[in-house]
Amino acid sequence: MKKTRTSMSIDPETREKLIATARNAREWAYAPYSHYAVGAALLTVGGRIYDGVNIENAAFPTGICAERVAIFKAVSEGEREFSAIVVMTDNGGTPCGSCRQVMAEFGLSTQVLIVDTTGNVHIDTTVAELLPEAFRPEDLI
Ligand code: THU
Repeated sequence: MKKTRTSMSIDPETREKLIATARNAREWAYAPYSHYAVGAALLTVGGRIYDGVNIENAAFPTGICAERVAIFKAVSEGEREFSAIVVMTDNGGTPCGSCRQVMAEFGLSTQVLIVDTTGNVHIDTTVAELLPEAFRPEDLI
């Protein structure tokens, strides 16, 4: 497991809960074209958990990733600060650039755990490390 994060991390119990949430959510992934199912579990600073799955579309670019579904669900309910996000795939694939950018909008210190379906953590990092020199709200002057 690659661990590059040095800031606060979630406790083991919460981590397992997020992993279980991502695993359950992943069952609902709608990926008839890529067959690459992704599940995400997002923890707010207040302790709420939002899940997400990738949702593909016959018009391919219209599909959306699991991470953004989870974040958009949370933000649409008034949440804006996140402690951690777990992303689960069969092979421990990492978040795409668009998802990294959406994560960065809401904070660089959010912990990001990349896990596979066996629960093995491949990468334990932060948004800051996934997207160095991110373009952020403060850049819009
Ligand atoms: N996918 C995600 O859900 N998250 C990522 O960060 C990487 C890619 C989805 C999009 C598409 O439905 C499938 O995985 C293959 O790219």
